[in-house]
Amino acid sequence: LILILDFGGQYNQLIARRVRECHVYAEVHPYTLSMEKIKEMNPKGIIFTGGPNSVYDGESARYGVEIFRLGIPILGICYGAQLMAYLLDGAVKTAPVSEYGKTEVLLDNSSALFDDVSEKTIAWMSHTDYIFKEPEGFKVTGSTPVCPVAAMEDADRKLYAVQFHPEVLHTKEGKKMLSNFIYKICECEGTWKMDSFVKTTILDLKEKIGDGKVLCALSGGVDSSVAAVLLSEAIGEQLTCVFVDHGLLRKDEGDQVEAVFGPDGPYKLNFVRVNAQERFYRKLKGVTEPEEKRKIIGEEFIRVFEDEAKKIGKVDFLVQGTIYPDVIESGLGKSATIKSHHNVGGLPDYVDFKEIVEPLRMLFKDEVRAAGRELGIPEHLVNRQPFPGPGLGVRIIGEVTAKKVRIVQDADAIYREEVDKAGCSKNLGQYFAALTNMRSVGVMGDERTYDYAIALRAVLTSDFMTAESAEIPWEVLNKVTNRIVNEVKGVNRVLYDCTGKPPATIEFE
Ligand code: XMP
Repeated sequence: LILILDFGGQYNQLIARRVRECHVYAEVHPYTLSMEKIKEMNPKGIIFTGGPNSVYDGESARYGVEIFRLGIPILGICYGAQLMAYLLDGAVKTAPVSEYGKTEVLLDNSSALFDDVSEKTIAWMSHTDYIFKEPEGFKVTGSTPVCPVAAMEDADRKLYAVQFHPEVLHTKEGKKMLSNFIYKICECEGTWKMDSFVKTTILDLKEKIGDGKVLCALSGGVDSSVAAVLLSEAIGEQLTCVFVDHGLLRKDEGDQVEAVFGPDGPYKLNFVRVNAQERFYRKLKGVTEPEEKRKIIGEEFIRVFEDEAKKIGKVDFLVQGTIYPDVIESGLGKSATIKSHHNVGGLPDYVDFKEIVEPLRMLFKDEVRAAGRELGIPEHLVNRQPFPGPGLGVRIIGEVTAKKVRIVQDADAIYREEVDKAGCSKNLGQYFAALTNMRSVGVMGDERTYDYAIALRAVLTSDFMTAESAEIPWEVLNKVTNRIVNEVKGVNRVLYDCTGKPPATIEFE
């Protein structure tokens, strides 16, 4: 285990990901983690992250010097580096000029941390304070024109510090530095691999659940699918998965989910598909306000799920597909608050269960996908792009009707098929068709038409908080347009959404 002590920097999750990419398990904990707990966890190494504070700030996060006496190798990054210097009686100052962005640093590659790293390399800096003088016993191992101590170490005590951020990709050889720390300095073995995660999780689940009954809301999304398969491997038919088809899924999606998880699929579990399309359409009739639509879909989803749960009776465990970023964001050490968008509308109130199980709580999204592959879940499910809980309900502007759902499903299926076929889906964060509420005049054959306009959207994004519109080659758009107007009845115009987020959002409602 590599323990990452979080001082509030923006790249802290990235550090954990990079460490895990080196096949070493890492956990992020807040800097308030007690010394006893740290000793109990007995990590092979500790990383102090960056953070927004200054070490001279009264509120600034700090440990006693005791942590440096544990004999555990420590790497301080940015604020973490300054903290190390400050606590060990070096000097930290506000720099005359802040250093921000890609910066050339000169490194001493006789250091184990920089073994096999170029002497002159590009690193990502983002700081105002800097280490002005290294603590006694330390050797300076890196510098820039602005920053006299861009890296320092006391190899005897296994204390290392870098002012720059090795975890971001802009630091060209950052991964090498982190892997040097993990392997050469902390002497980790690199045994954290998905197959071992999958095996141990299955054993843990078996032990925890015993002969208990487990209920899982399966959406067909990556997280709930992987969680369901892990449980099915662990406890087989003690697991019931309820899949609510709210009639707002993409084309054929309900059948695809059933093919994998239903009785003809490869997994042992009780699969309940609820075809609740009509129930949702009825509730949505005449409703045009986006938030009201979302609320209705969310609530109805829970009611349908509860109705099914009641039929099953008391269960011992309810499965949640919570993943590690949710855990980190919702405050470590506390139990995770489930975000309202995680499932469609939150936790069902009336399901009678004793405890929640969250088998993916410690995984990042790409690790969830890797676990899915390890478990043999088909690629189209493992690699699914994000799909909002309220489904096509937020991709049909205005009132939702069965006819409009059919139009947007067909148009979207054509769009995805052509984008995939043209090989342009690799970098896209999300791409889909939406049905605008606009009708306009067109001509088909010799006839006047007055039909809907479909909007195509494709965005580049890594965090879904901001996004830019993606460039799809014109030939592809052209082909998609032709196919949609010819094959999808009720559409006579196709538009491409060129807006980024902000000011637009990714979804239309
Ligand atoms: P927006 O539209 O806010 O979407 O830019 C950002 C990301 O979140 C997804 N999204 C949702 N996911 N339930 C979900 O599980 C929801 O209610 C929901 N609304 C938006 C959206 O698809 C995009 O990936």
